[in-house]
Amino acid sequence: MLLAIITKNIYTAKGFLDDGNLVAIPTETVYGLAANGTDTEALKKIFETKGRPINNPLILHFTSLESMAPYVCGIPEAVKLLARNFWPGPLTLLLPKSSEVPEVVTAGSARVAVRIPNHPLTLDLLQVLDYPLAAPSANPSGYISPTKPEHVQQQLGDKIPLILDGGPCKSGIESTILGWDETFQPVIYRPGTITLEEIARVLNTTPRVNREAKVLLAPGMSSSHYAPQTPTITTKDVKSVIEQYEGKKVGLIAMKNSYPEKHVVKKEFVLSPNGSLSEIARKLYAAMYSLDTMDLDVIIIELAPDEGIGKAINDRLVRSSTSNTP
Ligand code: TXA
Ligand code: MG
Repeated sequence: MLLAIITKNIYTAKGFLDDGNLVAIPTETVYGLAANGTDTEALKKIFETKGRPINNPLILHFTSLESMAPYVCGIPEAVKLLARNFWPGPLTLLLPKSSEVPEVVTAGSARVAVRIPNHPLTLDLLQVLDYPLAAPSANPSGYISPTKPEHVQQQLGDKIPLILDGGPCKSGIESTILGWDETFQPVIYRPGTITLEEIARVLNTTPRVNREAKVLLAPGMSSSHYAPQTPTITTKDVKSVIEQYEGKKVGLIAMKNSYPEKHVVKKEFVLSPNGSLSEIARKLYAAMYSLDTMDLDVIIIELAPDEGIGKAINDRLVRSSTSNTP
């Protein structure tokens, strides 16, 4: 089986992208599956490769506000303010799109999702391209997002020609998505490591959270997401869930403390002995990937404290799970 080339050379990546091919790119959040954001044929390959429904729109990635300007209808003060505080960084904004944005990017919506990612290699790459990069997370639709080049190689390496190797992702879960409603009130559509509190401080108003109605997807489409193949249970009460799996092959992802019930657990990850939520976010998906290759009967994942970045972590965890035991 032919696998993807893994390289740090942005000019090799540019060559493939200019020719209408897909390239996996590093960002600070997760690896993206990138195509020329103005080339409809190249964009269609993203949906085919991921097995992604065509009505699920894509984020456009830029290197600067100047390079973004032609693709949106003006850049209001609030956006400049957010850009100054959070870009480059893990914040995606939904803005009215210009006619430069192909229909397939937005799935027919009048808004386009845009962000400036904080990864030096991808920023260098965007500098030498004369188009933005459309990129969803570089995983088969519904599976865990990749935070290392080898995850992309394992999942999509036989379907794409090139992976740009930017090392492990520093932030580890997907960007916060923010838009505005008809009355110009800010709305968070997906929580991330840039928290509601941080956005509220900058905008001087507290965004509403609307996790479900974010897109034009059929109901239920987004509910199974970020999910390992192994049955996965998320819980606040690890001890009692472990007890139910005596004699089974159990993998455990704990947040801060190790569990003494270890004898029933085949493999345990403790993500952050200091309880750092950003460390937990950074390491979570890699731990899930690893357990999912171990032929376990069940993966038990402890929920994070439900505050700040913990809210974004728990959002992903609940979506990843086959069952959630509070
Ligand atoms: O951190 C991230 O955001 C990563 C990196 C690669 O940038 N990307 C990412 O893309 O997570 P994806 O496609 O896996 O998730 C983007 C989400 C999808 O749920 C999509 O439905 C939503 O953003 N989205 C994109 N464009 C939209 C639009 N025009 N209106 C509403 N939702 C949109
Ligand atoms: Mg995704």
